[in-house]
Formats: sequence, C-alpha cells, structure tokens
Amino acid sequence: MFQLHKRKLYAGIGLLAILIIGASATTQDKPKPNLKVLPKNIDHEELSKIMKGFNVSLGVKCNHCHVPSKTDPKKLDFQSDEKPEKEVARSMMKMTAKINKKYFKQNDGGASTLTCLTCHNGKAHPDSKIVIPE
Ligand code: HEC
Ligand code: HEC
Repeated sequence: MFQLHKRKLYAGIGLLAILIIGASATTQDKPKPNLKVLPKNIDHEELSKIMKGFNVSLGVKCNHCHVPSKTDPKKLDFQSDEKPEKEVARSMMKMTAKINKKYFKQNDGGASTLTCLTCHNGKAHPDSKIVIPE
C-alpha cells in the first residue's frame, strides 16, 4: 500500500518537472517583443502588413533592417536592434506620423496621407536633392 503511494508520488513529481521544463522552453522560444514605436499589443497580421510595406516602399528585403539570428543564421533576429537601419526606420516612422498628425489631420488614412512610399518610391535612398529650375 505504501509502495503504491510512493510510486504515485514519484510519478507526480516527474510529471510536474516535465511541465515546468516544457513551460520554460516555450517562453524561451518566444522572445520578448522589442517594440518602441508600434503598439506593444499589435497583432501578427497587422505587423506583417507594415513590415511588407517597408520592403515594397524601400525596395529592400527584411534583412535590410534585421540582423541574422546568432543561433540560426538562416533566420533573422527581429528583436535585435543591432542594424542601424532599424533605428533609422524607427525615427522615420515617428517623423511620418508627426507630419501626418500635424498637416494631414483631415485626411487621416486617406489618399493624401504621407507614407514611406511617398518619399522612398521603391528606393532605400531617395534622392533628397531637389533641383529647383531657374
Ligand atoms: C525599413 C526597415 C525594416 C524592414 C525592411 C523590415 N523591418 Fe521589421 N521592424 C523594423 C522596425 C523599426 C521594427 C521595430 C518597430 C518598433 O520599435 O515599434 C521592426 C519590428 C519587427 C518585428 C517585431 C520584432 C519584435 O520586437 O517582436 C518583426 C516580427 C518584424 N519586424 C518582421 C519583419 C519582416 C518579416 C520583414 C520583411 C517582410 C521586416 N520586418 C522588414 C524595421 C524594418
Ligand atoms: C518625407 C520623406 C520621407 C519619408 C516619409 C520617409 N523617408 Fe526614409 N528617408 C528619407 C530620406 C531623404 C532619407 C535619406 C536617404 C539617404 O540616406 O540617402 C531616408 C532614409 C531612410 C533610411 C536609411 C537609408 C537606408 O539605408 O535604408 C531608412 C531605413 C528609411 N529611410 C526608412 C523609412 C521608413 C520605414 C519610412 C516610413 C515609416 C520612411 N523612411 C519614410 C525620406 C523619407
């Protein structure tokens, strides 16, 4: 009788250990978001849409702003801030939002809203030199 209880207890401890290890493994798999401009609770679909928009607007791939993962170089480390382009992009996002808020209030989300594409037009380095004809 006592033997049976002991075995049950060991089985219980074993199961608990598996659950704890399993839980910590999944939290490690899911890195903490590192969002400073976008809302922290943004859903995956919306984030993905914005990122794909950056690619099209600048004519680049995701690796233009995101560094390869240290553990698996085939993947990108989206949380890392190591690539300077990512920080530039953050300030561009803030600038774009600021201009829209201040000057395009009535057209929020409308056709005359300023976007990355407005200036970049498919290029990472838009021509910032405006030639004024005489
Ligand atoms: C022009 C630069 C740029 C490009 C190109 C870009 N991203 Fe990003 N990405 C950013 C910035 C900046 C942030 C952080 C935004 C913030 O701080 O709110 C970010 C954040 C993310 C995050 C959230 C990371 C976290 O902290 O949880 C994911 C996921 C992501 N990007 C995926 C992608 C994918 C996939 C692509 C290609 C389709 C892509 N990005 C292309 C600039 C870029
Ligand atoms: C008002 C015009 C304008 C808007 C809007 C704009 N940009 Fe830019 N962006 C520029 C100019 C000009 C440069 C400097 C080009 C150069 O470095 O030669 C630049 C540079 C950059 C760079 C650094 C260059 C590089 O190597 O990638 C990134 C990244 C960038 N922009 C991302 C964005 C993103 C993302 C958005 C939208 C959230 C955006 N920009 C909106 C004008 C703009």
